[in-house]
Amino acid sequence: MSVKILAIGDVCGEPGLRFLTERLKPYRKENEIDFVVANGENANVVGVTPKQADTILHAGVDVITLGNHTWTRTELRPYLDERRKILRPANYGPQCPGRGIAAFSTPFGDVCVLNLLGRFTLDNNTDNPFVIADGYMAEIREKIILVDFHAEGTSEKRAMGFLLDGRASAVWGTHTHVQTSDACVLPGGTGYITDLGMTGSIHSVLGIDPRQSIGKFMGDPPRRYESGKGPCKMEGCIFTINPDTGRCLNAEAVRIL
Ligand code: FE2
Repeated sequence: MSVKILAIGDVCGEPGLRFLTERLKPYRKENEIDFVVANGENANVVGVTPKQADTILHAGVDVITLGNHTWTRTELRPYLDERRKILRPANYGPQCPGRGIAAFSTPFGDVCVLNLLGRFTLDNNTDNPFVIADGYMAEIREKIILVDFHAEGTSEKRAMGFLLDGRASAVWGTHTHVQTSDACVLPGGTGYITDLGMTGSIHSVLGIDPRQSIGKFMGDPPRRYESGKGPCKMEGCIFTINPDTGRCLNAEAVRIL
């Protein structure tokens, strides 16, 4: 017996939310996906509001993970405390609202999801994600363990994959929004990909209108980011997992157009 877990790359702005709402449920049914985790921290382009988080969950996502923009929308803070289906990075201080790790009951057993934030060029006010992840692995009792490592550095993300190899069922990277071509099962049986990619406008710079992004690099004064327009995509990775052992049998990057 095996189960299919779909991890979806950062949902970007209204175009990403709309595409997810249109496409996820039929895709989930067609491909017999058992459980879905999506990174939602760019649903408001920067950050996510409670309403947008609800939209992601209604679209067919079981658990939302976040990252460096967790605190941008202050109205999300009570929502993080109230709702179990949304996680913020576990390596933020214990005084922060919400939680970074949780177990979810499913027909195929309990699934543990852990969200972590990298420190390379990101928020250095976090605890060391490697030490935190290593500590959690000794404590988690669930067979299926899924880890979203929201980080900038490919080296950081690959190192996390190898640190958790043989202990987590799947480790994936988010945040850089460009899907990498290294989906694999690591030697110890952990499914891995450095970055899932993104859900939103295809002809964009990480979800942002290219003209605006070019302007920024040309030296324009800062202004509010706007989503790219036109056709969209949904990118991610399907991990096929043996629920009895928690080991990954196959990891396949996917792009839905
Ligand atoms: Fe991010």
